[in-house]
Amino acid sequence: MRKAKIAVIGSSSMDLVVTSEKRPGAGETVLGKAFKTVPGGKGANQAVSASRLGADVYMIGCVGDDHYGKAILANFAQNGVHTDYVEPVTDMESGTAHIILAEGDNSIVVVKGANDHVTPSYVDRAKQLISECDLVMIQQEIPEETVEHTALLCNELQVPLLLNPAPARPISQQIINHAAYITPNEHEAAVLFGGKSKEGALQEFPGKVFITEGASGVRYFDGSKEVLVPSFKVVAIDTTGAGDTFNAAFGTAIAEGKELVQSLTFANRAASLSVTGFGAQGGMPTRDEVERTS
Ligand code: RIB
Repeated sequence: MRKAKIAVIGSSSMDLVVTSEKRPGAGETVLGKAFKTVPGGKGANQAVSASRLGADVYMIGCVGDDHYGKAILANFAQNGVHTDYVEPVTDMESGTAHIILAEGDNSIVVVKGANDHVTPSYVDRAKQLISECDLVMIQQEIPEETVEHTALLCNELQVPLLLNPAPARPISQQIINHAAYITPNEHEAAVLFGGKSKEGALQEFPGKVFITEGASGVRYFDGSKEVLVPSFKVVAIDTTGAGDTFNAAFGTAIAEGKELVQSLTFANRAASLSVTGFGAQGGMPTRDEVERTS
């Protein structure tokens, strides 16, 4: 089978992860159990995951000129992600995500740092590469105008765009029109489609909007009815990066030409495996691992 060629335009960060029994409230101090630094950032996570799943992946992003930037680049190399379009920004710190794992869930503060330098003109430098891709994947830890610009560019180049609208922010009608696939979770869907019910939003965009519902699965409208493609039961260790794995696997399968339900099932399978390891990328499965459990 021919490898799918995918460009990921997005953030690359270092995740600073504290594990704690209890999440502190405002003004409260608690004693944590452990601290770890691991590679993350929604763009980088999706690039690494798609590469492990067998795609030929090109990252388009920025890192700082600090030691985190070097570690992020080394991690891309280890995972076979092409970094011809990842530049260190002078006098700038890499993006960081400050994560608390407590009470069975995570809470995250992202400081964008160098990821704010992924501008429309920066993306334009990779126009030739993008025109040769089967799919472009993008998220929202980079400037809003870059997402808008990429949607127009992909439309011009006739390359399908998969938008993972995370973290949540309202997006323009242009972006909605030009994206081929949009994959909000329930919270992000509420921000994106403000006044509409979930059912209403799905019905308005059949085969385009896919709402992920965590352990339940993913829901979309097929033109005549709502379809829930169920997830798989696993014992979760860390859910960070499950959404990124879902998107990467969905994008990889679609870019390979797989059918919609088959692609969503593959994505659910990969995402369920991803939560069985620590850190955003720690549990992200290889193609073999997904196929062995299918
Ligand atoms: O989606 C998970 C990612 O979100 C983490 O790796 C962290 O970097 C945050 O941006």
